[in-house]
Amino acid sequence: MCGIVGYLGKNNTKEILLSGLKELEYRGYDSAGIAVLQDNNFANYKAVGKLVNLEEKTKDFITDGFAVGIGHTRWATHGKPTELNAHPHLGESSYVVHNGIIENYAQLKKELQEDGVTFLSQTDTEVIVHQFEKNLKNISNAFEAFEKTISELQGAYAMLIVTKSLPDTIFFAKNGSPMLVGVNENDEKFFASSDSPLIGLAKEVNYFDDGDYGYVTQDALEIFNKAGKKVEAHFVTLATDKLSAQKDGYRFFMEKEIYEQSDVIADTILGRLGEDEIIFDELDSSLFDGIHEIKLCACGTSYHSALCASYMFERYSKVRCSVEVASEFRYREPLMSKDTLFVVISQSGETADTLETLKMAKNAGLKTLVICNVDNSSMVRLADACILTRAGIEKGVASTKAFATQVTVFWMLSLYVAKRNKAFTTKELQDQIHLLREVPASVIVTDAMHERIKRLSKRYLHGHGFFFIGRDLFFPLALEGALKLKEISYLHAEGYPSGEMKHGPIALADPELFTIALLPQHLLYEKSKSNVEELSARDSTICAISPLPFDKADDFIPINSCKDYMLEFFEMMVVVQLLSLEISVRLGNDVDMPRNLAKSVTVE
Ligand code: AGP
Repeated sequence: MCGIVGYLGKNNTKEILLSGLKELEYRGYDSAGIAVLQDNNFANYKAVGKLVNLEEKTKDFITDGFAVGIGHTRWATHGKPTELNAHPHLGESSYVVHNGIIENYAQLKKELQEDGVTFLSQTDTEVIVHQFEKNLKNISNAFEAFEKTISELQGAYAMLIVTKSLPDTIFFAKNGSPMLVGVNENDEKFFASSDSPLIGLAKEVNYFDDGDYGYVTQDALEIFNKAGKKVEAHFVTLATDKLSAQKDGYRFFMEKEIYEQSDVIADTILGRLGEDEIIFDELDSSLFDGIHEIKLCACGTSYHSALCASYMFERYSKVRCSVEVASEFRYREPLMSKDTLFVVISQSGETADTLETLKMAKNAGLKTLVICNVDNSSMVRLADACILTRAGIEKGVASTKAFATQVTVFWMLSLYVAKRNKAFTTKELQDQIHLLREVPASVIVTDAMHERIKRLSKRYLHGHGFFFIGRDLFFPLALEGALKLKEISYLHAEGYPSGEMKHGPIALADPELFTIALLPQHLLYEKSKSNVEELSARDSTICAISPLPFDKADDFIPINSCKDYMLEFFEMMVVVQLLSLEISVRLGNDVDMPRNLAKSVTVE
């Protein structure tokens, strides 16, 4: 979603802010801006569109010597993406950047306007800086004025304020939206919404908790918790280096992340596969005590991995499992019982809808587990237990390796529970563990496969839509393939259960309707095949993905013959990921930052 950066120090403040914002581009944005306070003079630049526009505007702006500065990439929530609505927002002698939503902004804005304050933007954010300056008029101590301002805000925020009232200080506050602070041996202070802008600059970082606020100067980092009590920073070292977040020679982060699925899945299973058991050191086995149902809740791609999990929990673990779309679950007044383990799945750990369902489950007294890719994220810090997917930074907005590692974790977790429930014999467990060990090899992208898909993609650049169809576990994979294509090609695609096509959608069958059919050999092959033949008989254009030749298909993408449908699943996953990538490339789209999308949707 929005991205925030901040810097206090003597180095090139402008460059540090702009390069920090570039590292946050993957979060999706439609405008950007910076504000720098140096020698008690403010410089402020904003631009709509990509960061290059802001760089152009600031090219003659030089910062030299000590300064404080803040920067922001904005994904519009309140107010159109315009320069006026871009952050930082100015009061009279202070600037603010903010990620989140101030839920009581309308009331505050009304009161401020009645006091004679003029607003320039349509944003909720602007009330923050005017409220701060209103408090400054009545409270001489700037930090106390900031403290009072925070207490008057309701909603989610990660914010930074710089002010001429204290020109050597940056004020910060965090509640519901992510932010961290980094320090190094040169007494420099760095702020960002996520790790990557601090990589290579900060030596250690502190991830703020909800309710944290405070300030930094050259000599100090003062943190207060939501009770107003001073707390110590919990510094951790940054786990990744900048290089691992770069493209490594691939055309896009998404392409790199598809290719690195083999390595990251190897990391995901590392230390977790015993001879005849799954090992999750991070889990206390009592988590499953008294549990008779598992409820999974997520959004988007994470919802698709949850659907995959539901087949495995019921088939392998013999435990009832249900799956919810988080944005639906939040408002349908769901019945929750304490014998249900509530599991949220999130790559970012910050998705607002999913985070709120986690809070609902906790408030209802359920035990909670999060499957997440970002340690120290809001969901990780809130859930009772956490299993990290270890996919590493995923910068492509269209999720790939996060999905692959989520399904891998769920496969392992279903076996972990199967053992607890004595649902699997030792031999069965050993066989499944052998299969898991083969997953990294099954997702290696071969040149031949990639070249074939690259060539094939030229045929799928038009038409009146795509169906991705599959049965059982391959139905959520069909949903995921359709989402990938929608996200980065902007072509319409729909995932559908193969067996459902005859209940209406087959009316769409014609040569312009492209059907991507998932035909695993080891799971309902004959039934799936007959569904596809029904479409082919009506002249639908079929692209079959299967280890077995299929003569009724117009196009055919072979995968390796596998021992088990789970390995077929991972092989077909790579195919649908690459197919959407190559179609998007041919259409000239921004594969890593598709239009209208954000990497982490931290608003409803
Ligand atoms: C995935 O390709 C999408 N970008 C999107 O659906 C994403 O999966 C969804 O927003 C959930 O994000 P999360 O996993 O970080 O919670």
